[in-house]
Amino acid sequence: MKFFVDTADVGEIKELAESGLIDGVTTNPSLVAKSGRDFKTIITEICALTDGPVSAEVAALDADGMITEGRALAEIAENVAVKVPLTWEGLRACKTLTDGGTMVNVTLCFSANQALMAAKAGATFVSPFIGRLDDMGLDGMELIEEIRTIYDNYLDLNTEILAASIRTVGHVKQSALAGADVATVPPGVIKALVKHPLTDKGLEAFMADWKKTGQKIV
Ligand code: G3P
Repeated sequence: MKFFVDTADVGEIKELAESGLIDGVTTNPSLVAKSGRDFKTIITEICALTDGPVSAEVAALDADGMITEGRALAEIAENVAVKVPLTWEGLRACKTLTDGGTMVNVTLCFSANQALMAAKAGATFVSPFIGRLDDMGLDGMELIEEIRTIYDNYLDLNTEILAASIRTVGHVKQSALAGADVATVPPGVIKALVKHPLTDKGLEAFMADWKKTGQKIV
């Protein structure tokens, strides 16, 4: 399973990229607004930190506008994945951009039929938003499972399922169990994935006993 980091904070991306555990990055207009920085500068800096796909979202709502913006974003670096919304116009833009060899992440997916259409449009990634479905009292994970089943039914559908709107470590585990190809995860949740109180407690005990031996390894 691939891990993308879901942030536009270049400092956080740098720290995580240095671990070698990150396979790409996703941003969105809300994350860019939160950073308070210039969008294209951010994307340029992120693309220099990772060889993996870096999602950069268009702002136009019509297909022609999305294609123009998408081509401009794709010029920033080879690893830009243009992010388009899951609308009719977005799917038209997706088809044109992917036919031209640009990676496309179709975002704001909330149903299995939408994911089927994204795959038909040749999307590189489709982003089902788990957390936002959970917020409405629905089951975001059920959507991942449905998309996995549909995509596995048809070998000609090559779109990768990118589990998005992940809020908890439980979401990451459930996405992996459901067979998502990628999870895009906020930095805090990525770090929380390695935490366990028994690990901390066990390490403390081992270190206390090691000290008693009076030995050194190097
Ligand atoms: O990748 C999309 C993600 O950033 C949305 O997350 O928490 O705003 O629903 P959230």
